[in-house]
Amino acid sequence: MNKLSEKNSRLFFALWPDTALQQHCYSVAHALHAQCGGNLVPPHNIHLTLVFIGNVEKARIPLLIDAVKGVRSEIFSLQLNQVGAFRESKVAWLAPAQAPPELALLVNNLRSALTHAGFSFDNKPYVPHLTLLRKTGGVDVAVLDRTIEWRVNGFALMQSHSEADGVRYEVLKEFTD
Ligand code: 2AM
Repeated sequence: MNKLSEKNSRLFFALWPDTALQQHCYSVAHALHAQCGGNLVPPHNIHLTLVFIGNVEKARIPLLIDAVKGVRSEIFSLQLNQVGAFRESKVAWLAPAQAPPELALLVNNLRSALTHAGFSFDNKPYVPHLTLLRKTGGVDVAVLDRTIEWRVNGFALMQSHSEADGVRYEVLKEFTD
C-alpha cells in the first residue's frame, strides 16, 4: 500500500444490484462481448454509480456519512432496457432508456448534501449506466428484447480498492429506509 492509499479512500455512491440481478446483467454483457469485444466487468462488480467522489481522507469518512444521512431514496424501479457504448472511454453499458425522476432526485440530493458539507465530486451531467465492458470497440445503441427490472430500495457508499488482479469494491455503508 502506498502513502496516498494509506491516508485516502477512493469513494463513490452507488446503487448495488443483488447477485441475481448482477448475473442477469452479466448475461447481457456476454452477448455484447460477442459483438464488440473488450474486458468483461465481473458480475459481482456490476453497479450503477450515483456520485463519484474520488479520494477522501479516511478521517473524513464519518463526516461524509453524516453529510448524507438525511438523504432519502424513494423506492423506485429502473427498467434496464438499452445497451450502448461511450466511444471516448471505450466502455459498453446497460441503462434505462428513460430514467425515473426519483433517480435524478436522489443524485441531486446527494450532490447538494455533499456540496453543503464541503465535499467535492465529479459534477459532470449525470448519465446513468452500468458498465459491462471496458476497452471495448463501439456498439450502436440498441433496445433489449427483454427489459431487466430493478427495484431499488436504497443506496450505498462504496470504496474502490485497486488490487493486483483488478478492482475490488467494498460497501462502507448502506442507506436504506
Ligand atoms: P464507469 O463505470 O463509467 O467507469 C467507480 O470507479 C465508479 O465510479 C465507476 O462506476 C465509474 O464509472 C464511476 N465514475 C464516475 N466518474 C468517475 C471518474 N471521474 N473516475 C473514475 N470513476 C468514475
